[in-house]
Amino acid sequence: MIIAVAGKGGVGKSTITALIIKHLIKRGQTPVLAVDADPNANLGYYLGVECDVSISDLREDEFKNNPTGISKVDWLDLKTQECIIETNSGFDILVMGKPEGPGCYCAVNNLLRTFIKKIGQQYKFVVIDNEAGLEHISRRTNEEVDVLFIVAEPTKISLIAAENVKKTAEALGSKIKNKYLLINKKGIDKEKEPSNNMNISGLETIGYVRYNNFSSNFDNNILNNKYMEIEKDIEGILNKAEVL
Ligand SMILES: Nc1ncnc2c1ncn2[C@@H]1O[C@H](COP(=O)(O)OP(=O)(O)OP(=O)(O)O)[C@@H](O)[C@H]1O
Ligand SMILES: [Mg+2]
Repeated sequence: MIIAVAGKGGVGKSTITALIIKHLIKRGQTPVLAVDADPNANLGYYLGVECDVSISDLREDEFKNNPTGISKVDWLDLKTQECIIETNSGFDILVMGKPEGPGCYCAVNNLLRTFIKKIGQQYKFVVIDNEAGLEHISRRTNEEVDVLFIVAEPTKISLIAAENVKKTAEALGSKIKNKYLLINKKGIDKEKEPSNNMNISGLETIGYVRYNNFSSNFDNNILNNKYMEIEKDIEGILNKAEVL
């Protein structure tokens, strides 16, 4: 199953992604592939993994120079496999990296889409943390997604941004099987919170994740924290979305 998390900058996409992965591991739904599709990659930080290799490190000429006897597609598979960082905690991580620079990230994207679909078969779950803009959705790396969580904060402006993500996703055609609105940081600022219409037409609000005043001994590696109240919220959401 492929799960993707999208939304405006800072709404909590990476936190939610890490919490989803934590639940999948807890339930034995492994192996999981975490895909950091944000050019400002930091999913590894939330998962306690140092990520020193990314897809964007691969250069165009590396793909062009496939050794004789190996097809271009197989060669790309092989090179991409080398970018997967393995852990012994039930998940691996793949970082996409920055699109600009001397690589050929964009040209690789098409093939990468096929790769994610294919690699997905080796993992029980693939969980994609997207960048704040809509780029990856429009680059269609999320094309074959089973569940897309569009994250918003409980403010009007954030809901408008979430609606734009929804529209972009819809413009892709309907290969995304299920899309849900997920409201994060509920209670962060009660005055700004729309009273009862925290929804977007045509998009089911799957649930709320409360604002968590992380204590001073909070570990940024979400997997390390013993128990966080917000984990219960995520669990409810995953059950409702029939992920768990
Ligand atoms: N439910 C929550 N309660 C309290 N703080 C939260 C919650 N969710 C996320 N945060 C905090 O909000 C900040 C942004 O979270 P996060 O990095 O997950 O967002 P993001 O959408 O991935 O951001 P970016 O667009 O920069 O990648 C972090 O400091 C994180 O700890
Ligand atoms: Mg993030």
